[in-house]
Parts: sequence; structure tokens; C-alpha cells
Amino acid sequence: MALDLGMAQISQLAFGYWQAQTLFAAVRTGVFDTLAKGPLTVDKAAAACGLPEDSTLRLLDACVALRLLTRSVDGEYANGPHAQRLLVEESAETVTRWVKVMARWYDPWGGITQALRDGEAVEERRLRLGDDEEYAADFILGMHEYNSRSAGALAQALSQQGAAKMVDVGGGAGTYSIAFCEQWQGLSSEVIDLPAVLPLTLSTVARAGLDNQIQVRAGDYYTDRFGSDVDVVLLSNVLHQESPQAALGILRRARAALSESGRVLVHGHFLEETRTAPLFTTLHNLSALTLWNGGRSYTVGEMTDLMRQAGLGHVEVVQAPEVSAKLLVGTVKAHHGADRSHEGA
Ligand SMILES: C[S@@+](CC[C@H](N)C(=O)[O-])C[C@H]1O[C@@H](n2cnc3c(N)ncnc32)[C@H](O)[C@@H]1O
Repeated sequence: MALDLGMAQISQLAFGYWQAQTLFAAVRTGVFDTLAKGPLTVDKAAAACGLPEDSTLRLLDACVALRLLTRSVDGEYANGPHAQRLLVEESAETVTRWVKVMARWYDPWGGITQALRDGEAVEERRLRLGDDEEYAADFILGMHEYNSRSAGALAQALSQQGAAKMVDVGGGAGTYSIAFCEQWQGLSSEVIDLPAVLPLTLSTVARAGLDNQIQVRAGDYYTDRFGSDVDVVLLSNVLHQESPQAALGILRRARAALSESGRVLVHGHFLEETRTAPLFTTLHNLSALTLWNGGRSYTVGEMTDLMRQAGLGHVEVVQAPEVSAKLLVGTVKAHHGADRSHEGA
């Protein structure tokens, strides 16, 4: 029978969440942590994970098929190299908290039809911003696990131009403050975020040994000032949470905080002007609909317009290390030779 490519595409999409759920279940039931200590037969893995043997067998076999685990001829299951590196909680490169957040977002994504009809988020943002402590910790530290993998390269993509004072608005775990302070000599940064988040920020900053360079301040980016005479105001992965009107208010306050030659950096995932690519950002835009009232993915053109309305007369676009992410560098006046890699304004 001839391969029906159309049906292959539709079934791959329709079955897609089975794979994601298998990953989530294996992380949540501790499969990878259990196997981190060495290969196990199914009965021993089941006992260690506290699961019935029959269901464990199904889960482990599916993880082998997904190339997360391997199975020896003796029937012993072991973590594959990627799982051992990325899915074991104790691993230095772990992304387990981030995977747990993606698993949580299965619920709001399940309400996407309602979100599309109402135009409103289906999960309250305060849940993950402090009301549910465990969720907030997974959200903030999970983003850190994910973003710290590319944050150093982002800081490298931009020249310091003598910047000494940075404010990291909605800085979360301080991921980018840490990266910039590690790359730029003599830089100090202030992370502004909600009170429930700051203990988590302090813990990552202390782990990075940067307590002397990075301070934290409890603040609300809808209303608070971001300081004065600031060389760099960073808004990383923040504005997609907000409506154009709210984003403009935040950008205006960022502009007001700048020194004469200061820069506002807007970092995140942007849609191409066609709005139909990159694929990831078209989906990120739907995710924003379910999670953040008013939030959306912007095109570079839309964000540039908002930055100009906020008084940033010159905007330069720098390709960020993460595929589909960009860094928009806004200044009041044009600077020459600002950045090492750029696509022009
Ligand atoms: C998606 S995270 C980005 C964190 C970090 N900038 C990064 O790029 O990894 C958004 C951050 O905005 C913060 N945030 C949300 N609402 C806020 C508000 N009203 N005032 C200050 N920060 C807020 C959240 O706590 C969270 O740390």
C-alpha cells in the first residue's frame, strides 16, 4: 500500500502528546533517578519507583523505544546518555525541573480550545508566581536550568561598551544577570522581581558566587521605577507575558531609567513578520494565550514599534544563541559598532 503522507502527518501530530506524556511520567515517577545508580531489571525498578511491575514494564519499554533508556539482552534497563546527563536530578546539567513545568503546562494546554474561545488564559499566573510554592520553585528554577545553557553565549554576543550598572527586570533566578556579570568586567546587576521569587534568585546567585555583584529588589514591573542612570535595562523573556499596552508601560519605565548612553535589551522569542514562522514561536504564542492574560509572541517589527514609542529611537536586532530567539537592543540615539553579531535595525 502506498504511504499516505497526509495521514502520516496528521497521525504524528495527533499522537504527539503520547511521547511527551511518557517523558513526563518517567520523570515524575523517578525512573531516571532510579536508574542513575546502575542498570536494573523491571522488578527492581518497579520496587524502587513504588509502581506495579506490569505498568513499569510498559513505561520502561516505551522509554527504550523513545531512546531515553536502553535494555540489555539480560533484560536490564539503563539510562541512555542523554537521560543520564539531562534527566537525573543530581546531574550538573539536569533539566528535570523544567520538564516538570512542561508537564504542568499540559493542563492549561488542555484548555486551549476554551482559551481560544474566550481569549483568556486558563491558568491564573499567580499560581506559578508564588501562590503554589512548589510550582513557583519549579517554574523559576526550571527556567534557570533551561536558559543557563545559552545565557553565557548571549552575553558574549553583545559588547560591554563600558556598562557598569545593569537592572534585570523580571530577572527570575538571575540567570542572565549571572551570565552578564561573568562575562563583563566590573558589572553589577540588580534583579527586580516579585517577593516570592527573590529567595530563589538569591540561592542561584549564591551558588554562582556572585553575591557581591548581584543584588535583588522586590518590585512590580507594572508600577515601580527601575532606577536611574542605568547602563543596561534587561527585559529577558518577560514581554511575551504582557499585552502591548502593558509592555509599552514597562518599556517606558525602562527608558526612563537609562543613562545617556544606556541600552534597553529585550530578549525573547519573536515571530517572523509573516507570523507563520518559526514554528516554535507560533506555538509559544498559543502557549502565552493559555498562560498569560494579554500575553503574546510579538514580531520584531511590533516590538521595535513599541520600543520606539517608549522613546528608544534606535533599535538593533542581534541573533540570540537559542534558535528563534532574538535580542533587540534599544538606545535613545544610534551607536556605531554596537554589537558583535547583528542583523541590522
Ligand atoms: C518567564 S520569566 C523570565 C525570567 C528571566 N528574565 C529569564 O529570562 O530567564 C518571567 C519573570 O517575570 C517575573 N514577573 C512576573 N510578573 C512580574 C511583575 N508584575 N513584576 C516583576 N516581575 C514579574 C516572574 O516572576 C518571572 O521571574
